[in-house]
Amino acid sequence: MRDQPKKICRSCLIFFIGTILCSWRATASDTNPVFTKDILPILQEKCQACHRPDQVAPMSLLTYQEVRPWVKSILKEVTAKNMPPFHAKSPKGYFKDDHRLTDNQIQLISNWVKNGAPKGNPADAPEPIEWGGSAWSMEKPDLILDFPEATVSSRSIDDFVLYFSDYVFQEDTWVQALEFKSSNYEIIHHVGIFAVDSRFEVPDELMLLDSEDGVGGRVIEKNAALIEQNYLYTWLPGQRIEYRDEGQGYRIRKGERFVLQVHFAPSDVETKCTMQMGLEYVNGEIRYENMILPSLMTTLVIPPHNPSFRKKQSTMFLQDSLVQSFLIHMHLRGISAKFVFHYPDGKVETAFEIPKYNFDWQRVYHLAKPYKVPKGTKVEFHGTWDNSTNNPLNPDPNALVVWGEKTSDEMYGASIYHTVDLDEPIVVENGREIEK
Ligand code: HEC
Repeated sequence: MRDQPKKICRSCLIFFIGTILCSWRATASDTNPVFTKDILPILQEKCQACHRPDQVAPMSLLTYQEVRPWVKSILKEVTAKNMPPFHAKSPKGYFKDDHRLTDNQIQLISNWVKNGAPKGNPADAPEPIEWGGSAWSMEKPDLILDFPEATVSSRSIDDFVLYFSDYVFQEDTWVQALEFKSSNYEIIHHVGIFAVDSRFEVPDELMLLDSEDGVGGRVIEKNAALIEQNYLYTWLPGQRIEYRDEGQGYRIRKGERFVLQVHFAPSDVETKCTMQMGLEYVNGEIRYENMILPSLMTTLVIPPHNPSFRKKQSTMFLQDSLVQSFLIHMHLRGISAKFVFHYPDGKVETAFEIPKYNFDWQRVYHLAKPYKVPKGTKVEFHGTWDNSTNNPLNPDPNALVVWGEKTSDEMYGASIYHTVDLDEPIVVENGREIEK
């Protein structure tokens, strides 16, 4: 993991006044920090969302016993600014869920570890956070969709399999959060999540594709009909979709049902896995519909030994939009990405940038303050790949690499999450429009 967050600039004046104000305490806590009083509050605020049981991180950091064996590793990761993970630079606006540590917090953790990581007085510990016993990250799904259990045989190739939920929506239904869950994330590489008309006949050949279909954009080509239906989002480890801002919702149309297109990675053993989707409904007035402006560079071809291969692709906002969030997905050779807006009045602006992309860290970056872009704004998606030996993650610098779903192939999958105004606001209860 590599991370290059912005350094927080502090004015000397604030530093100076702060030093005077704090000096009388001799800052005992800063130089001799202890777990209960000084470190645990930081872990609660900045780490435990991921570092607790059944979440994405490899170990739990809830208690002193759990944290103690990891202190050397924690020191290394936080001083290198690898943890908490955050890779985006946003020239315009800033992001929610920015868990980066302050320089002060890094210093505190560093002092604590160097002093032998003392525990301190248990009475000084803050109350543990109630993370909720639910297996879902959302509070409580209003609807849980079950999919047939998958049996994945032991094999050396990737498979792409479609799974349908039986549930058919009887009316247009507005949701504000979507979450995918499985009993076994290890064999799942990613999941494309769609809603399709329940009468839509899926050709048999699409039900099960294999490794070869995953190369050169063929899964996408074959799935074109599916994608033209209602593409909702792509699950990657740790991703879910949530829009709780007032007046917004995703529309699942009357007559649609959910389809998962699951990419199973190769596996040594036969495994079973259950899959579910949780949905949370909107209540209240809806004025904006959530949408996605995607970009997929399926014609990507990266020559061997090229340390800096660049490609770009353009698309356009077809309606006045409010930009909410960004996601970029590349594979092991991806090293940077940026989205540039060209406004109709000629102004050009970088809207989103990951200066140092890392495959281990992909997440949706939500703007703290969504902003408007007029219809006709052109979006230029840029990517850079390093297919040389300089790139420690590169599985094979001799390979001519094409767009593909497998991790050893390359990809550019970008999404700009935005909303458009509805012609007329509607009022919904449990996701359904109330009669006027
Ligand atoms: C957004 C989720 C997330 C947050 C927030 C987060 N981590 Fe992590 N952390 C992970 C994941 C996932 C891994 C394993 C993947 C990896 O090592 O690349 C990891 C790995 C680590 C490791 C390396 C473990 C090893 O195998 O050596 C350390 C240490 C660590 N985290 C400490 C922290 C600390 C301390 C914080 C808070 C200051 C934090 N993390 C915040 C998700 C997170």
